[in-house]
Amino acid sequence: MKIHHIGYLVKKLDRAVEAFETLGFQLKQKKIYDEHRKIHIVFVEKDGYVIELVSPVGKDSVVSGLITQYRNMPYHLCYSSNEFEKDLKYLSQQGCVQIDEPCIAPALGNGRVVFLMSPVIGMIELYEKNKGGGDFV
Ligand code: NI
Repeated sequence: MKIHHIGYLVKKLDRAVEAFETLGFQLKQKKIYDEHRKIHIVFVEKDGYVIELVSPVGKDSVVSGLITQYRNMPYHLCYSSNEFEKDLKYLSQQGCVQIDEPCIAPALGNGRVVFLMSPVIGMIELYEKNKGGGDFV
């Protein structure tokens, strides 16, 4: 598994992109709407560090609850995997609890992603790199 990105919750996506740009980040992938999760997603990068900016669209978004609790902040660490089932099993064996079923991520070349919760370090995302259309759209 390799680190792919850090997921970062933001309330105002366009303004967050501008703010990250003033901090030296560059747009890596333009805004994409994930219909299933009801979120807007933008990827920005600096010095090899990729941040996924995630913003809810509507009250039934998967992150609507989180954003009222945490506002603007990092909330998950994403690993890319070439052996999705094996790495998912490994993470589960380490005490991470799977919190959704693997499903397609339009913002990641339609590769599958699944989220797990570690009781010690919070949310981890696993991204099936080899089945997607590439790292980004
Ligand atoms: Ni992510």
